[in-house]
Amino acid sequence: MKDKVLPRRATLVLLVAAFQATLAGAAEIPHLVRQGTATQLIVAGEPFVMLAGELHNSSASSMAYMEPMWEKLVALKLNTVLATVTWELVEPAEGQFDFSLVDGLLQGAREHDLKLVLLWFGSWKNGVSSYIPTWVKKDLERFPRAQGKSGNNKLVLSPMHEASWKADARAFAALMRHLRRVDSDERTVIMVQVENEVGLMPESRDHSAAAEAAFRSPVPRELMEYLKENKNALLPEVDELWASTGYRESGTWTQVFGDTVWTDEVFMAWHMARYIGRIAEAGKAEYPLPMYANAWLVQNDREKPGDYPSGGPVSRVMDIWRAAAPAIDFLAPDIYLHDFKAVCASYVRSGNPLMIPEARQGPEAARNVFWAIAEHDAMCFAPFGIEDIDEDHPLIDSYELLYQLMPLIVRHQGTGRMAGVLQERPEEEGTTIRVGDYNANVRYNRQAKGQTDMSYGLILNVGPDEYLVAGNWFQVNFSPATPGPRHAGILQVWEGVYEDGRWVPGRCLNGDETAAHWVVKLPPNTHDLFAGSNRPRILQVTLYRHD
Ligand code: DGJ
Repeated sequence: MKDKVLPRRATLVLLVAAFQATLAGAAEIPHLVRQGTATQLIVAGEPFVMLAGELHNSSASSMAYMEPMWEKLVALKLNTVLATVTWELVEPAEGQFDFSLVDGLLQGAREHDLKLVLLWFGSWKNGVSSYIPTWVKKDLERFPRAQGKSGNNKLVLSPMHEASWKADARAFAALMRHLRRVDSDERTVIMVQVENEVGLMPESRDHSAAAEAAFRSPVPRELMEYLKENKNALLPEVDELWASTGYRESGTWTQVFGDTVWTDEVFMAWHMARYIGRIAEAGKAEYPLPMYANAWLVQNDREKPGDYPSGGPVSRVMDIWRAAAPAIDFLAPDIYLHDFKAVCASYVRSGNPLMIPEARQGPEAARNVFWAIAEHDAMCFAPFGIEDIDEDHPLIDSYELLYQLMPLIVRHQGTGRMAGVLQERPEEEGTTIRVGDYNANVRYNRQAKGQTDMSYGLILNVGPDEYLVAGNWFQVNFSPATPGPRHAGILQVWEGVYEDGRWVPGRCLNGDETAAHWVVKLPPNTHDLFAGSNRPRILQVTLYRHD
C-alpha cells in the first residue's frame, strides 16, 4: 500500500510543479539568454526567432488605417510586427499621456496571434527630431538644439541637455509602465527599440556651447575605466584611435583619441548613447523588456561621420555604446546595403547578437533571412515597409520553411552545427563550409540570371552523419573533416517536410536528382514542375565513410 501511495503523491507533486512552471513560463517576461555562442530571446519560456516585418513609419498612428492590414500581416506569415510608438502622440501635452494607439496595437496583434516590437520614436528618428511633441519642438530654450559650426540651430535636439533626456525618459518610462500594466499576462510586446537611427548630420559633432565645453573637458572617467578594463578586447576601430595617442589614460577627447573627425564620432557616440542609455534605464525600471538601438549604416568606405549620422550605433563605435549605455542590450543594423554578409559580420563582433529590425524588402529578403538565422543565429529579420509586399513574395516561402525547421534551428543555435548559404553575385562559384564532422562543398548557381535564382539556404548537422540541407539553387557534396576513412558517400537523400515537428518524407532521391548519389541538389531536378523549382525545400541527407 505504502509503495503505491508514495509514487502517486510524488507524481501529483511533479504534476503540480510542472503546471506551476508552465504558468510561470507563460507569464515570464521576454528576456535574453546565452546558448553556446548565441543569444536567444526567450518568450513564454521558449527560444523565439522573429520572422518579422517592420511597418512604415506612420501606419501605427491610425488604428483605422491598420484595421485592414492585420489580415495581410497574417497572410505574409509573420510572427512579429515592428511598429512605431511616437513621443509626440503619447504625450501630446506635457505630463498628459495617451496610450490609446498602443492599446490598439496590442489588440490588433493579439487578435491575429502576432507579437510586437515597439519602436520608440522619441528625441530622434533618422538623425532628426521630427517625432518630439510639439511642446518640445517649439521650446528651443528649454530643449536646446544641436549647433553647427556657424551657430545655426538644427532640427535636432542636442544630446547634451538633462532637460531633454529627462523629458524623453519620463515619457518612455510611462510607456513601459503602461505595458507592464496591460501586457504582463499576454506578453504581446517582446522587445523595444529605443529611438531610431540616431546621430548628427551633416556635421561630425555638435558645436553648441555645452558640447564645445564637454569636448574640451577630460574624457569621462567611466569611459576611460571601460577602455582600460577591456583594452585587450576592444574592436580594432576604437583600439586604433586610442593606440594613435599611445593609449593615453586621461586627457581631453583629442588628447586620448587624436585630433581627427573620428574623435568627433567617438565623442558624439558617447553622448548620444549616454542619453539613450538613461532613457532605456528609466524604461527598464518600469518593465525590463530587452532593448536595443538601431543604426543608419556607413554606406561606403569614403564616408566620414556626418555623411552618416555621427554618434549613431554603427559597428565601428560599438565599444563606446557598450560603455555608455549598459541598459541597451545590443546594437542592431538596418541593412539596406547589398553587402549583407559583411554587415552581419561587422555586427556580431565581440558578442553582439544579431537582430535586423530593417532590411530591404526586395526578393533578396527571401535569401538573406536564411543567412542571418543560420549563419549568425539572428533573433529577428524584418524587411521594412512590410505591408507593401505582395502575397506571392518569395519571403513567405522562406518564412514557412524556417517555421518548419524552427525547433531544430533553436536547438542548434550557438553550437557551430548550423551554417548559412548565400550567393551574393551570380559570378560567385561556391564555398566550402565545415559543419560538424564533414566539410560541405557548396556550388552556387552559376547560371543565376538575377535576383530570383541565386543560391540560398542552410546546412544543419542534426546527428552523426546526418544533415538537413534546405533552401534553393545550390548543390552540395560532403567530404570528411575528421580522421578516418577518406571519403564520404551519400547513404540516402530524402525530400520531405516537417509537420508539427515530425519529419514526413516525400521523394527518395537516388537517381539523377543526386547525380546517382554524388551530390545533393536544390532543386533536385532542373525544372521540377510538380514540386515547384522556385520554392525552397528541405532534404534530409545521411552519409557514410569509406576508403
Ligand atoms: C530607415 C529608417 O529607420 C526607417 O524609419 C525608414 O525611414 C526607412 N529608413 C526608409 O527607407
